[in-house]
Amino acid sequence: MTDSTLFGGIFGAQVIGSGAIGTAFARTLSRAGVEATISNSRGPESLKDLVRELGPSIKARTREEAARADIVFVAVNWTKLRAAMANLPDWNGRIVIDANNPIEAPLFKPADLGGRVSSAVFADLVPGARVVKAFNHLRAEVLAADPGSDGGRRVLFYSGDDTAAKGEIAALIEKLGLAAIDLGPLEVGGRLAQFLGGPLPNQNLVRMG
Ligand SMILES: NC(=O)c1ccc[n+]([C@@H]2O[C@H](COP(=O)([O-])OP(=O)(O)OC[C@H]3O[C@@H](n4cnc5c(N)ncnc54)[C@H](OP(=O)(O)O)[C@@H]3O)[C@@H](O)[C@H]2O)c1
Repeated sequence: MTDSTLFGGIFGAQVIGSGAIGTAFARTLSRAGVEATISNSRGPESLKDLVRELGPSIKARTREEAARADIVFVAVNWTKLRAAMANLPDWNGRIVIDANNPIEAPLFKPADLGGRVSSAVFADLVPGARVVKAFNHLRAEVLAADPGSDGGRRVLFYSGDDTAAKGEIAALIEKLGLAAIDLGPLEVGGRLAQFLGGPLPNQNLVRMG
């Protein structure tokens, strides 16, 4: 069963980036029966096999189509983010989930952020969007796993500067079966959950009860 009336009528979350994290997120959406789209740099044709495997609630679209949605989830390699966010419609207060970390395989050399939290740097690429940091602190295989498989609900941290946007994303996280924990504004929560540097990445925590 799909649910396209979630979050006050908003149609799921549309995903830009179909790699490890974009796919893991889409898998959690599919498991919860939430309708969504997924996109990459190569176009929907390249995603045919993936969406078939993910199930009927996930459709392949272009990056531009995904970017028109009310909630857009972005999981792209740090150095490719500028290109991935270029030439898209005005954000006009729409919500963007920043699942990115300022570091890249295979060298894992941290990007120079000039002392800023990475979500602030990312926010500059999506002017006018309400940015919520989330889904960046677990490894893809942990994020994709059943959130209830360890006897409780897997914890998913989020942070942001807009209370209403955070409320929407907290509702989405809970809908997916995860336990949502608000870390506060981007400047605080973004740093706590940032990889590298923060204490929370790769902590696979479970809320009991
Ligand atoms: N892997 C993890 O466990 C993990 C955990 C937490 C956070 N993260 C963060 O999540 C982000 C993505 O990581 P990942 O491991 O999922 O990377 P990945 O497997 O290399 O996938 C990156 C995705 O970005 C897409 N992309 C690149 N340029 C694009 C563009 N111009 N327009 C649209 N899509 C574009 C790629 O599409 P194409 O293949 O078509 O180019 C690909 O689908 C990174 O910032 C990373 O730090 C990763």
